[in-house]
Amino acid sequence: MAASTTINLQPPVTNSGNVLRMLDACSKGDIETVRHLITVENPLYASLQDETTGQSPLMVAAAQGHLPLVQLLLEAGAPWNAVDRNGQCAGNYATDHEKWQVINFLVEWGTRAELILGAAQREQQTVGLPFHSSSTSSTTTSSTIPEAHQPSTKPDYLRQPLRYNNDSSALLDADNDAVMMEWERPLMKAHAQILMEQVSPADTATYKKRVLNVGFGMGIIDTALQELGPSLHIIIEAHPDVYKHMLQQKWDQKPNVRICFGRWQDVMPALIQQGVVVDAIFFDTYGEHFMDMEDFHQIMVKMLSKPHGIYSFFNGLAPDNLFFHGVACQCVKLQLAQLGLEAEFLPCQIQVDEKAWDGVRRKYWHGRDTYYLPRVTWNPQAVHGTLVAEQQEGKNKHSPTKQDLEVVAMEVDAKRPRV
Ligand SMILES: C[S@@+](CC[C@H](N)C(=O)[O-])C[C@H]1O[C@@H](n2cnc3c(N)ncnc32)[C@H](O)[C@@H]1O
Repeated sequence: MAASTTINLQPPVTNSGNVLRMLDACSKGDIETVRHLITVENPLYASLQDETTGQSPLMVAAAQGHLPLVQLLLEAGAPWNAVDRNGQCAGNYATDHEKWQVINFLVEWGTRAELILGAAQREQQTVGLPFHSSSTSSTTTSSTIPEAHQPSTKPDYLRQPLRYNNDSSALLDADNDAVMMEWERPLMKAHAQILMEQVSPADTATYKKRVLNVGFGMGIIDTALQELGPSLHIIIEAHPDVYKHMLQQKWDQKPNVRICFGRWQDVMPALIQQGVVVDAIFFDTYGEHFMDMEDFHQIMVKMLSKPHGIYSFFNGLAPDNLFFHGVACQCVKLQLAQLGLEAEFLPCQIQVDEKAWDGVRRKYWHGRDTYYLPRVTWNPQAVHGTLVAEQQEGKNKHSPTKQDLEVVAMEVDAKRPRV
């Protein structure tokens, strides 16, 4: 289940003759009239939306593929992520009309806007101000957003009772929201295979990977990982009901499994302290925010072996709109790049039967048949730099302690070439 993102929906704001003049000028690609309207008459015209259709000047300009007009409107304050009555944003309009230049420009703009917004929210949080995602900004309240599109962040999740439903097809929380569902099984299997594939040139037959999974849920990915025979299989799980279920299912007795009951936020620093390093990491929690995922990345890199470690996560970012999903993936890609990692997104076909949602309050996957599976590896250049720096730092700092040597031994082990 996805971390919720800051990309969100804004309902149409107003209607007047002015919006019709703007829409008309945009549909004709008449940049001079648009410039006049927003510079001489009112800059707010750039952000208007038709009350009936929800169309904005930016959407119309994007559908026309008129890049200078798109730029002008965005610079005048048109929100890149406003949606029409069908939930479509300017990026969707450009995509429908295959206007590639505009699509690329909007992705770049949206990514920058989201990263800046994210940084501002983090700043707010640091200084102790209440934090609001854009879904609860002044233009809209969560009650005006359809339930299906509301952010899935649930700060009280760990205090809610959970239940596995009768046919074991879902794990549900107290609101009947799905924490995990059976339809994800093929995706989880694909994730497990990507995580456990051997990536370096020798020693495949003997080397068994060490893997960390964060979030047990229905144990689907852990079952798939077990089948691939890891030499160490750490599972971090925070919910008491899920932990109880794991013990009932005797997960504590499975080969090489080590269960860490607690939040990853608390468990991972302790594992790092113990010098634990793994070759593969998977992240799939519930009820957390996109910012938690960013925090996870900062800490996860300390446990991921170099240079062949692989990381992946359940990619349910902004799942109800392909364009927002693309922007969210791009944000993650840039954030991971800052940590020395390279992310690629592998398309996988998936079909979800509508009946799967029976008894589930809110769909968290919206009929798309392509899932973009993230495969994240170290950037070879970044790794080379860090390895050299770490070696130098180690040499100059102190002679190694016993614990250091154990950590180094694990690192050396991880660096053994494998196919
Ligand atoms: C979507 S499910 C994971 C599903 C799993 N990938 C599978 O294949 O069944 C999310 C799990 O993350 C757990 N979780 C949520 N927040 C967590 C946290 N901060 N630390 C550790 N586990 C967490 C939930 O209790 C839940 O069991």
